[in-house]
Amino acid sequence: MAMPGLAAPNVPLVNPVTMAKFVDALPVPKIALPTGTRTHAAFGSRPLPFYRMPMQAFSAKVHRDLPPTPQWGYAGSTPGPTIVTRRGEPVLVEWANELPTRHFLPIDHGIHGAEKSKPEVRTITHVHGARVSAPNDGWPEDWYVPGKSLTALYPGDQDATTLWYHDHAMGITRLNIYAGLFGSFHVHDDDEKALGLPSGEFDIPLMLYDRLLARSGKLYYPVSDDPEAPWVPECRGDAVLCNGKLYPYLDVEPRRYRLRLTNVANTSFFNLSLSHGKPFQQIGSDQGLLAAPTDRLNIELYPAERAEVIVDFSAYAGQSVQLRHQADGIVEFRVRAKGRPDTSVVPATLRPVQRMDPSTAVQDRVLALGEQDDSGGNPMTMLLDGKMWSDPISERPKKGTVETWTFVNVTGDAHPIHLHLVCFQVVERRPFDLYAWNARKELVFTGPSIPPAAHEAGWKDTVRCDPGMVTRIITRFDGEPGKYVWHCHYLEHEDNEMMRPYELV
Ligand code: C2O
Ligand code: CU
Repeated sequence: MAMPGLAAPNVPLVNPVTMAKFVDALPVPKIALPTGTRTHAAFGSRPLPFYRMPMQAFSAKVHRDLPPTPQWGYAGSTPGPTIVTRRGEPVLVEWANELPTRHFLPIDHGIHGAEKSKPEVRTITHVHGARVSAPNDGWPEDWYVPGKSLTALYPGDQDATTLWYHDHAMGITRLNIYAGLFGSFHVHDDDEKALGLPSGEFDIPLMLYDRLLARSGKLYYPVSDDPEAPWVPECRGDAVLCNGKLYPYLDVEPRRYRLRLTNVANTSFFNLSLSHGKPFQQIGSDQGLLAAPTDRLNIELYPAERAEVIVDFSAYAGQSVQLRHQADGIVEFRVRAKGRPDTSVVPATLRPVQRMDPSTAVQDRVLALGEQDDSGGNPMTMLLDGKMWSDPISERPKKGTVETWTFVNVTGDAHPIHLHLVCFQVVERRPFDLYAWNARKELVFTGPSIPPAAHEAGWKDTVRCDPGMVTRIITRFDGEPGKYVWHCHYLEHEDNEMMRPYELV
């Protein structure tokens, strides 16, 4: 498959269309168990659960008919074990780099400038969407090499939601995550427990990602065909994997399930639907429960976005239902003829979501997405607000204040923009005049403001910014002062200057 700007693969690739479907059982990542307790200065003598998560190389089959695929994962699996926590219950996690000292993906292409002089294998783990202080957040330049580790404190100071952990090392995140360094991190709370949603074995993370697979079983990462522009601007695979398998199946009972859909792909979005033509009942987005369930026939999920859904298999005993991406079945649910009684419910209201009022913002930051680098650098480089990672910090929100950030997408692509530390709300999207912007940096709207639909009206931490559109978010900058990042979650963009620091002061 030829993509513009990409060299023809030098190895024969798997054509997923030719692979047998639904021959492998869907792995449900195991729940991480603490190895003991430890204390942390922030919580005095209180014993906190302590987890150790070693990053390790391993090989595992992604499909019955393919040789094992070398990967990197936490605790030797991709996804790594699920960390399950509760609001108000802090945990400590030691992220230990036990990887080999050579990357197994070719890094001789696509690592630019200063990154080239750094060790090939360097990692730092970020829990996406976690409310943590700066030293525990996984600052991209705080990477460390094999043999080293870092213990981070997650105070649990947030409502029930689906977070995920993944590598965030400067300039090489896209390869580390492509290699498999990610897993799920769930927060529960008493209010959510009291709702009676499907829980325990009926609450399942589905981490979705695409890869290019060589017939040898190896992961293939695309290479640029332009020596002047060694970066590939995107990485899209034709093999859609879920929890480590290509086209897996899951035996389910005829009852309700809570599925935590998470897009962990480098650049691809997923357009998800169910083969029986009935809607998902979406109950949550990136930062937890929506105000009320909302029916959705199709769920578009951009990189790093999450959607929690309820799927009720009770009317499908003895049949099968597929989860589809576009027209293609990617996971098959095989509904048993009989199951245990289902006592779960989906209440008509889930939690209060107070909409934030833009008039309470102390400032509106207008930030361009994707302005080109005119410093004579890589022509593929896209910048945030015209600035490189190394430019001085320009966003210094004050603790406790409300701001709106207005993303002006000047490119032809969507960009999923993520802010660390905070959860935000989508205020609006609105078409604007690109010529007026390019000529005079003037924001001229060319159409009405579009408010978020119900599924985007809850709390989020990643927002799709469409081309030709301004996307405005609102947030209160609470948390520990310090340096955090905001970036595009297309990993090729993030690694290629589409990431900026911000400082909470
Ligand atoms: Cu999911 Cu800054 O990351
Ligand atoms: Cu981007």
